[in-house]
Amino acid sequence: MDRANPFLMKYWGELGLSAGDRVFVPLCGKSLDMIWLAEQKHPVLGVELSPIAGQEFFSENDIDAEIRPEGPFMVHQGGDIELMVGDFFNLTQTHMRHVRGVYDRAALVALPETMRQDYANHMADLLTDGAKILLMTFEYDQEKMTGPPYSVSKNEVRKLFESKFMIQELESRDLIEKAPGMQRAGLQSFVQSIYLLEKLDY
Ligand SMILES: C[S@@+](CC[C@H](N)C(=O)[O-])C[C@H]1O[C@@H](n2cnc3c(N)ncnc32)[C@H](O)[C@@H]1O
Repeated sequence: MDRANPFLMKYWGELGLSAGDRVFVPLCGKSLDMIWLAEQKHPVLGVELSPIAGQEFFSENDIDAEIRPEGPFMVHQGGDIELMVGDFFNLTQTHMRHVRGVYDRAALVALPETMRQDYANHMADLLTDGAKILLMTFEYDQEKMTGPPYSVSKNEVRKLFESKFMIQELESRDLIEKAPGMQRAGLQSFVQSIYLLEKLDY
């Protein structure tokens, strides 16, 4: 996308965060949503496997960045945005200091089914009680189209997160009318859902 995600802008306030609260963007790619979050005065921590995405994010946005090794990561730091190039599963609670919010767009749904429970468990281990996640998913007939993005149903979201998070559905809407590519693939519906998750004390 060449601008911030409209659903991020619509629902970010639901997390009730304050300026200065640090936010985490898992599997961030070179998403411009990180710029929008930094503009809301949140220090941003992203993690992304691709070194190319790490470099291009800063060069394409004219942000001077310094690069330093940190354990298994190469950390690109520019202004209030810290992008860790490496594997999400290598992050520890130490990396997540002061993180109060998470923006999961095209992260959970980028992973195949066999990895999604590990992703949810690791996310739960990383976050402190009361931290919130804005989660966006898609649900469609996986028989008709292979992912990514993969189809992740409401039941699956419940199964993945309910033992450690309170789950609130903020919106669910069928986007098929605006998705000719999905129609050509034979899909009759392509439902985007947006959830607010809150980490419980467990
Ligand atoms: C579909 S893209 C989404 C990027 C971004 N969230 C956005 O909204 O544009 C998924 C990204 O996850 C990254 N990725 C996949 N597995 C990862 C992992 N284990 N750790 C870090 N990044 C990973 C991929 O390299 C890819 O850039």
